[in-house]
Amino acid sequence: MSRNKLVLASLLIAVAFVASATIATAAPIVIKFSHVVAENTPKGQMANKFKELVDQRLGGKVVVEVFPNSQLFGDNKVLEAMILGDVQLAAPSLSKFEKYTDSLQIFDLPFLFNDMAAVEKFQQGPVGQKMLMSMKKKGLIGLGYLHNGMKQLSASDPLRVPADAKGKKFRIMTSDVLEEQFKAVDAMPLKKPFSEVFTLLQTKAIDGQENTWSNIYSKKFYEVQPYITESNHGVLDYLVITSAEFWMGLPDDIRTEVKKALDEAIAFGNDVSEKKAVVDKQKIIDSKRSEVIELTPAERQQWVEAMKPVWKKFEKKIGKEYIDAAVASN
Ligand code: LMR
Repeated sequence: MSRNKLVLASLLIAVAFVASATIATAAPIVIKFSHVVAENTPKGQMANKFKELVDQRLGGKVVVEVFPNSQLFGDNKVLEAMILGDVQLAAPSLSKFEKYTDSLQIFDLPFLFNDMAAVEKFQQGPVGQKMLMSMKKKGLIGLGYLHNGMKQLSASDPLRVPADAKGKKFRIMTSDVLEEQFKAVDAMPLKKPFSEVFTLLQTKAIDGQENTWSNIYSKKFYEVQPYITESNHGVLDYLVITSAEFWMGLPDDIRTEVKKALDEAIAFGNDVSEKKAVVDKQKIIDSKRSEVIELTPAERQQWVEAMKPVWKKFEKKIGKEYIDAAVASN
């Protein structure tokens, strides 16, 4: 072999070596999962389970980083950040998508679902599944629903009938339906991020809020709210969401494995949500910091009658056939 050929051959070998080393150390795909609740909640545990499953099955290829407690983004910023590629996964409450789609507002209609079984049936049915893709044109894809549970009303004074809420300030999530729900009982709704709720309650800047047992417990709202009315007036569930660009850009085999891990983590989170609704309620009762008020059927009926007219206001926007399908799931 001539000297020139020898030099060329050594160069080729060196290039091949560097290329294979680069492939071997190719940077893993990073999935940042941002959420706003504590780790010991259905969503917090679901996110951690997802990380654990991905570590086990795709270790080295995909890395999941979970940011709880609004550490990375609050719910009002996370979707913009996702479209910009700054975060890949989140699971905001279904009440926080109204800038992106009208259809998900259905979940905020008061007294629409009798229980979580009805919610599950509707979400897994044709309408619920269609809604997963309702924001695709805006660059967002729903990957599945995650349960938290039914909402309760907490306040600085006992709330037994709608008249008790009159003139009181309630923190709500960013949802026009929830705004109308509280206006329907002559209360004053204020849209505020989850991260501010405890301080607003503690300083008495607001009188009350609505949330699930696990959120009321894990964020200690019960320590600064002497009364919780077990109203079960609405649902607080989540949409696990990703950016269409990120999701479609994943290699097929990786996307399939990630989705499988996510589905398993969601099933795990749903189990946690069912247990927490019972256990966290009991912990609040045992703490004696807050009195849990049970409504008589006649008292509850007054809330239904006061709040249900809200449905009509959103019927056109949401679609009557969607509302009928939700009612039929009861
Ligand atoms: C809230 O803002 O009250 C909830 O959406 C928080 C959550 O993610 O459960």
